[in-house]
Amino acid sequence: MPTDTFRQDLHRIADWVADYRANTASRPVLSSAQPGEIAKALPDAAPESPEPLDAIIRDLADILLPGITHWNHPRFFAYFPANNSEPSILAELVTAAIGAQCMSWQTSPSATELEHVVLGWLGAILGLPDGFEGVIQDTASSATLVSILMARERATDGKFRTQGAAASGADRLRVYASEEAHSSVEKAVFLSGIGSENLRRVPVNEELAMDPTALDEAIRTDRDRGLIPCAVVATVGTTSTLAVDSVKHIGQVCKEHDVFLHVDAAFAGSLAALPEMRWLIDGLELADSFVMNPHKWMYVNFDCSAHWVRDVDLLLRTCAIDPEYLKTARDEDVRNYRDWGIPLGRRFRALKLWWVLRSFGADGIRARLRKALALAEGLEQRIREDEDLKLVTSGRLGLVCFRPVREELGPAILDHVNGSGEAYMTHTKVGEHFTLRWHTAQDLTTEEDVDAGWSALRSAIDAATKE
Ligand SMILES: Cc1ncc(COP(=O)(O)O)c(C=O)c1O
Repeated sequence: MPTDTFRQDLHRIADWVADYRANTASRPVLSSAQPGEIAKALPDAAPESPEPLDAIIRDLADILLPGITHWNHPRFFAYFPANNSEPSILAELVTAAIGAQCMSWQTSPSATELEHVVLGWLGAILGLPDGFEGVIQDTASSATLVSILMARERATDGKFRTQGAAASGADRLRVYASEEAHSSVEKAVFLSGIGSENLRRVPVNEELAMDPTALDEAIRTDRDRGLIPCAVVATVGTTSTLAVDSVKHIGQVCKEHDVFLHVDAAFAGSLAALPEMRWLIDGLELADSFVMNPHKWMYVNFDCSAHWVRDVDLLLRTCAIDPEYLKTARDEDVRNYRDWGIPLGRRFRALKLWWVLRSFGADGIRARLRKALALAEGLEQRIREDEDLKLVTSGRLGLVCFRPVREELGPAILDHVNGSGEAYMTHTKVGEHFTLRWHTAQDLTTEEDVDAGWSALRSAIDAATKE
């Protein structure tokens, strides 16, 4: 493509992106597409001849956008957010333009060195204890898998890697996580060959956080039975309700039993940037690894997951492989991040994290996080005062969980809210109770959006009550 044409196209796309961003709020948050509807509107085969940008943009608007759920809509209150931001969008464009594959230091020294430096910056913003080394993974699920593999490597003294499951005693390994831990933990346990039946679910207290005494007992019982306690996953901010496992108490148990501790703070980890929230990671010096997602709550486009480990040698013993065609003259002196995770190929993810941290500054990030917390506290207060609703968990970490007093109306209320297009919420179960979740961590959410979401919720309660 001639440079001038490309430049013109870029300007058009820049306008498209700016308009999309400015007008997202006027679209329904949740796509109302039916299964198969989008596929049916698309041609059966790729075109034989080139098509003009006009045609592509037209189909983007007419066919694809109706099938998009707008994660960066200010009334996206569902799951956890996948926040992006203007600086991050700009960085993604530049990343695509550079198109580097950053598997080794030599394949782009800046990518490797920026990743190292920027994770140092982020670690300092979060107040991480000394002794951690960071790497960017695609997702928290991958980071947790890598951590479980490290724990397996440590517990089998390297034999799993060389001799496989049977010869390494891996059939006796046990992993521990609370009943509320994310599904990625179970996935890591079965993908690692340890087997989901060897994941012990540790009971939680009334705040839905792991009971460290129960963990201690479970480890002792398993040891007495000849099993090998291998890893514990503590969660700082569980997916359902943002319960916080005590890293300190769990860490003490892990130290006593010499068990690997991984801390999953995928969403709530960002809050450690606030001095008043640093308690969330108290005891992190006792952990072996830690993950938090800038792609959830640090305004960096999906995907970008920050993973810190204490024992880099163990990580390398777990993941590194060195075929002739990847060797470089500098391997002894540099980090080759391809050895710090599962895939060989790596995107230049550090660029967008760097761009966002520079554009907002640590203070800008803190202001955004505090804004979200204040909105959640206001929402919590409304729920407390509403006679049709019952608060389930407080909004102190940016997510409010609640249910209707007439519990059976919960699913219908959710359908009405989401069907309205005005807001998007999701649900979970707390005990046996259907529970609605509403976070205020979408960066574009304002007090007016919470008001609009509240009106949608109130209308939904009225409609469900009349049915
Ligand atoms: C606590 C927790 N851990 C892990 C994950 C998985 O994150 P990812 O999509 O980055 O794998 C989530 C997702 O919401 C989560 O809430």
